[in-house]
Amino acid sequence: MRNNVIVGQSGGPTSVINSSLAGVYRTAKENGLGTVYGMRNGIQGFLEERYVDLSKHITSDLDIELLKRTPSAYLGSCRYKLPEIHENREVYDKIFSLIDKLEIGYFFYIGGNDSMDTIRKLSDYAIVTGHPCRFVGVPKTIDNDLAVTDHTPGFGSAAKFIGTVTKEAIRDGLVYGNKLVTIIEVMGRNAGWLTASVALAKGEDCGGPDLIYLPEVPFDVEKFVAKVKEIQETQPSVVVAVSEGICLGDGRYVCELSDAAEFVDAFGHRQLTGTARYLCNVIAAEIGCKTRAIELSSLQRCASHMASRIDINEAFSAGGAAVKAAIDGDNGRMIILKRVSDDPYQCTTEVYDVHKVSNVEKKVPLEWITEDGTNVSQEYVNYCRPLIQGEVPPVMVDGIPRHLYFKE
Ligand code: F6P
Repeated sequence: MRNNVIVGQSGGPTSVINSSLAGVYRTAKENGLGTVYGMRNGIQGFLEERYVDLSKHITSDLDIELLKRTPSAYLGSCRYKLPEIHENREVYDKIFSLIDKLEIGYFFYIGGNDSMDTIRKLSDYAIVTGHPCRFVGVPKTIDNDLAVTDHTPGFGSAAKFIGTVTKEAIRDGLVYGNKLVTIIEVMGRNAGWLTASVALAKGEDCGGPDLIYLPEVPFDVEKFVAKVKEIQETQPSVVVAVSEGICLGDGRYVCELSDAAEFVDAFGHRQLTGTARYLCNVIAAEIGCKTRAIELSSLQRCASHMASRIDINEAFSAGGAAVKAAIDGDNGRMIILKRVSDDPYQCTTEVYDVHKVSNVEKKVPLEWITEDGTNVSQEYVNYCRPLIQGEVPPVMVDGIPRHLYFKE
């Protein structure tokens, strides 16, 4: 009987991608499905026949709880672009022969845009060939750029971390009372959702960052320097947030102006790094004041010690919903999060056609960005604030969070 399950993790990790894995595993077990296999390093590892029986690795309720609190991808991830069927049928033959060998009836892939493209291709192949395996995607990305879903698991926790450390950096910048420009560089590629979360720092006890630059608006280096000078007329410390993906009017990434080494992945995505450092150098040269470049880099997506409880729970539910959808007969679908209300915040899961999601990049609406392109509106804050609520304390051992790690 074809009752077994396989699950993989793909793309850049988040603080809560393992919570989705836990949701898939637990729900599959609760619903009487067979062996739950995990792909090592996503579809790339599966093609190399690297997979494991997860029940030999996740053996207790404590393991599930630790998994929900462990950042990075427990099974390992990949950035592997599945060829189109007509480009390389052998790859599909290989994947489906493994699916047959393991008697897999349910295939789950936890990932972002590129990973949903994998679900799309595999489910199309299954439909064309009349294969009975069902393919369902579980959304994940700190970038929050997946279409249709209200937001993506992983985004809320990264936003909570970014809002928090931005507030701390603003506080630190005030210490000497001297001129200082701090530039915080945030991930998110071509969408500014995550960079905008620096605005969450603003509150009764903090004025928030002074300037926020998202990739949705072309960046002008001269205007930026002029803005910083203007703010410095009334305050010594200026805190700026820039997205790693901000571009000049001609479409070049600002980071291309820096001397950061260039790395391009299988999807043709350039590694975006060095924007904050480059702009700090410009400020130092043009204004001659002290600067600090803070590239949050991987810290923003692995800070599970301060993950959002809402996010951990939604990631778990999304995994569970994918299993239930597949049991109900869904194929070529992705789970989406549907916000029911803001206050009290309520959100539910639904099932959506993955063809309408994959390869579409959802950007921050321009109405949520101020006219001069240097800040975000209250609408953005209202949208984001519920997603960062609550904490799940880490299991502390010797003063450091305990993780569940994969033992070969
Ligand atoms: O896909 C999410 C993301 O974290 C992006 O924000 C970032 O640009 C990219 O991944 C970095 O990817 P990698 O870890 O492969 O360098």
